[in-house]
Order: sequence, then structure tokens, then C-alpha cells
Amino acid sequence: SVKILRTVQQVRQWRLQRLLNGKTVGFIPTMGALHDGHCSLVSQSLKDNDETVVSIFVNPSQFAPHEDLDSYPRTIDSDLSILASKFRSSVKQVDAIFIPKISEMYPSGINLEISKQRGAFVFVKGSSEQLEGVTRPQFFRGVATIVTKLLNVVQPTNIYFGQKDAQQCIVIKNLVKDLLIDTNVRVMPTLRESNGLAMSSRNQYLSPQIKQESSIIYNALKSGESLYYSKNAKVESSEILTQIKTVLNLNPNFKIEYVSINHPETLDEIDYIEPGVGALISLAVLAPKENSDGHARLIDNIILH
Ligand code: PAJ
Repeated sequence: SVKILRTVQQVRQWRLQRLLNGKTVGFIPTMGALHDGHCSLVSQSLKDNDETVVSIFVNPSQFAPHEDLDSYPRTIDSDLSILASKFRSSVKQVDAIFIPKISEMYPSGINLEISKQRGAFVFVKGSSEQLEGVTRPQFFRGVATIVTKLLNVVQPTNIYFGQKDAQQCIVIKNLVKDLLIDTNVRVMPTLRESNGLAMSSRNQYLSPQIKQESSIIYNALKSGESLYYSKNAKVESSEILTQIKTVLNLNPNFKIEYVSINHPETLDEIDYIEPGVGALISLAVLAPKENSDGHARLIDNIILH
């Protein structure tokens, strides 16, 4: 049965036992509100490793003071029953779930106001400032910090991330490389609703109607992709960007924050997409939030090869 671990010390003990028994450990860090996207990472870990541990922790340091930390969906009962169930086709089950309190992960405390913070933080320079980093300048610092802490505690053989958060994957790969952390970073494809909307915990902010209309996001990306593949040559990024924006602008409910074409590893903006190099096409749009004047921020991306 699944073991619930609540302290750093309990996880260290659990891990040491696996180390002594020569077991490989797969790890999936999450913020809960689990959906099939998270579950696909868990399934892959069950296949790859002797044992699998999932963490559920809504990490305060990756939220700015004006962002949705307080309203971020928390569905711990449903999360636990999902993780405790017999996992899909797999005969194996999740072995442990780490659910720490904030004080466990931030022994010096944590304030969302960066000027009031104390203690150690991790910043991955060069891949944290562009794209998502423009409107969320603290975001990847928070992500890199919590993932470093979790890696120090869990010491997994393999750690799993979703392509849905493309820049997060790149930040973590650079983090692991530069801080000489002994783990393999595995990136899994984006899981989508049947209408193409990328699964996300934040989709809970959308009304059923807007959720349906959100199919326009993936359709826009796919139309850019088709345009690229129809050329079979070097293509100007601006041409693809215009195509994607034109589709998105067909529905005034969705406000474009950015659409960008970047090198898939360096994240440098590129003027041309060339066969052999490929590209990351990523975007953020604001969609109306259900029962509120606010917006839900939706991100998505595709990779061109
Ligand atoms: P969270 O948004 O809960 O996502 C946990 C993991 O699930 C991430 O690696 C994310 O990319 C992946 N994921 C989310 N939606 C997915 C989808 N539709 N298809 C495939 N994978 C998907 O990302 C975070 O939490 C946090 O930043 C975290 C890494 C846990 C650090 O706090």
C-alpha cells in the first residue's frame, strides 16, 4: 500500500532503505490537483523504476504576491485516491507520496515578497528570464529552488516532467547539469483533452463554454506547424507567428500575451526555422475566468523538428 511521508527525515529514511536494497527510484514532483497529464508521468515512472514517489506541494516561492497561490486548486482527497488506485494498465502502484508542510521545505520561512525573503534560493540564469519569465520574473527561481530541495531529499534515479511546461523542462535540465545533480531528467509529451486543450490544473478556472472554445489554442499552434511543414524549407518565424496569431484573434475571448519561436534548447529567439535545428513555438493567452472578472493564464507549445 502507499506510504504517506510528511517530513524530510521520513523521506530520507525511505530513500536510504531503497538505496541499501539496490532499488531504482522514479520521482514526480507536482502541485496536486492531479489530472491525466500528471498520471502519464506516474505511469512512465512505474514502467522505468523499481519504485515511484510523487510529491504534492503547492510551492509558495514560485507565486508572485499578486498571483493565485491562495486560490490554486487543492484537491488532496481526490489526489490521494488517484495515486492509491491500481494504476491503469500497470500492475505496480505508487510506493510513496511526499506531502510536506511549508515549514518543512522552507526552514528559514518564506515570504512571497522577494525583498523580504531570507535564506538560500536557486536561479538558473539564461533560461529563466525570457518567455514565461517576462511576466513571471520570480517563477523559475521558485521552481528551481523547490526542485533542488526535493532532489536533495528524494535523490531519485529518474525525475519526470511534462513538455506542457517546456521552459520549466529546460530550466531543470540546466539546473541538474550545472549543479552536478545525480539524476536523469525525463520529459514526457503533453496530454490533451479531446478538443486539443492541454490538460492543466488551472483549467478548473474555466467555464465549460470557454473550455470548449479553448480548442482554438492548439488549433492555432497546429496551423502554424502545418504552414511550416508545407514549405519543406527554411521558413521565416514571422510568417508562422502571423498565422498563429491570426487564428487566435478569431475569438475575442482569448487575449494573446505572447507567441514566440525559439531555439528548442537555448531558448534564443530565432528569425528562421530550419530543418535540422527545429524550434519551440510557445504561447500564453488570457482566457476569462468563470464567475470572476479575472483571467486564467493558459500556456501551450509545440516542437518543430
Ligand atoms: P504541476 O503544474 O502540478 O505539474 C507537475 C508536472 O506535471 C510538471 O512536470 C508538468 O509539466 C506536468 N504536466 C502538467 N500538465 C501536463 C500535461 N497536460 N501533460 C503532461 N504533463 C503535464 O509544474 C509544476 O507542478 C511545478 O512547477 C513543480 C515542478 C511541481 C515545482 O513546484
